[in-house]
Amino acid sequence: MSFPLHRPRRLRTSGSLRQIVRETHLCTDDLIWPLFVMNGTGISDDVASMPGVFRYSVDMALEACREADRFGIRAVILFGLPDHKDDVASYSADEQGPVAQLIRKLKAELPKMVVMTDVCLCAYTDHGHCGIVRDGVICNDETLPLLAKMAVCHARAGADVVAPSDMMDGRVAAIRAALDKDGFENTSILSYSVKYSSAYYGPFRDAAGSAPSFGDRKTHQMDPGNLREAIREAALDIEEGADMVMVKPALSYLDVIHAVKESVNVPMVAYNVSGEYAMLKAAAANGWIDGEAVMMETLLSMKRAGADLIITYHALEAATCLRKDI
Ligand code: PBG
Ligand code: ZN
Repeated sequence: MSFPLHRPRRLRTSGSLRQIVRETHLCTDDLIWPLFVMNGTGISDDVASMPGVFRYSVDMALEACREADRFGIRAVILFGLPDHKDDVASYSADEQGPVAQLIRKLKAELPKMVVMTDVCLCAYTDHGHCGIVRDGVICNDETLPLLAKMAVCHARAGADVVAPSDMMDGRVAAIRAALDKDGFENTSILSYSVKYSSAYYGPFRDAAGSAPSFGDRKTHQMDPGNLREAIREAALDIEEGADMVMVKPALSYLDVIHAVKESVNVPMVAYNVSGEYAMLKAAAANGWIDGEAVMMETLLSMKRAGADLIITYHALEAATCLRKDI
């Protein structure tokens, strides 16, 4: 006999009561803002499929980070767009490249901002693959030293966290060993441990010019049908020394976020990816959904599923909404 003894609506009647019994909260500390950075000055070049997202030159990226800081954002993740690409990703560990330059400037000017960097070769290779390619095959073990070199380059510039997104086997161990050898034992690794081969990355690849020129990423990124494999991937990366793990994409993988969270005891990050952002923005621009409301509900769902942190292109907008709520 529950009704009329129990009336779940009682706790929903007033705004404040409803608020204090809320089980999950989103706050600005949860948000990590992704930025695309390239050479040049005064550039903020918009990404057609991602309204509100720009490819910045280093000076403009620094300005964007100042703004993020004013919004209360504590962490950014940087993606480099090099001037030159070749088959061995020569510019992936360039001490004078846009990522290294921006890290140094950020650390000098906004020392409290947590600076994370994406570590992968696909934006630096002319074929757009995440590793060294021989006879049409992505060579796992040959790629590892290049990823390690890239991570050390970012650490040397001052990155707090390096985030390998390539999905090569053994890359966390290789990066950890290289960092430690060069004295960067305090640089953290956020591993893109559970990264699916997803059609949701399309707009990102437009922004980064990193779409593979032949083939796909199915030999290293995971099959969207697999959940147990996600648990295995996260466990392997933690064994190899990952300080935090990631599930990517987020919105279609809330079950994976939940399951990985249950199985690990390190902080877990969800990546609200480019395609998720593009879908929301397109529907909102057409007036078909309330963009702000859907954004906040979407981000909250990722936290409810178990994400401790969320990488999202919506970070500044979400921070604005959170501020309005207070
Ligand atoms: C690089 C990388 C990608 C994303 C993050 N790092 C693209 C890919 O794997 O092709 C996707 C991010 C997004 O879609 O927002 N490997
Ligand atoms: Zn890649």
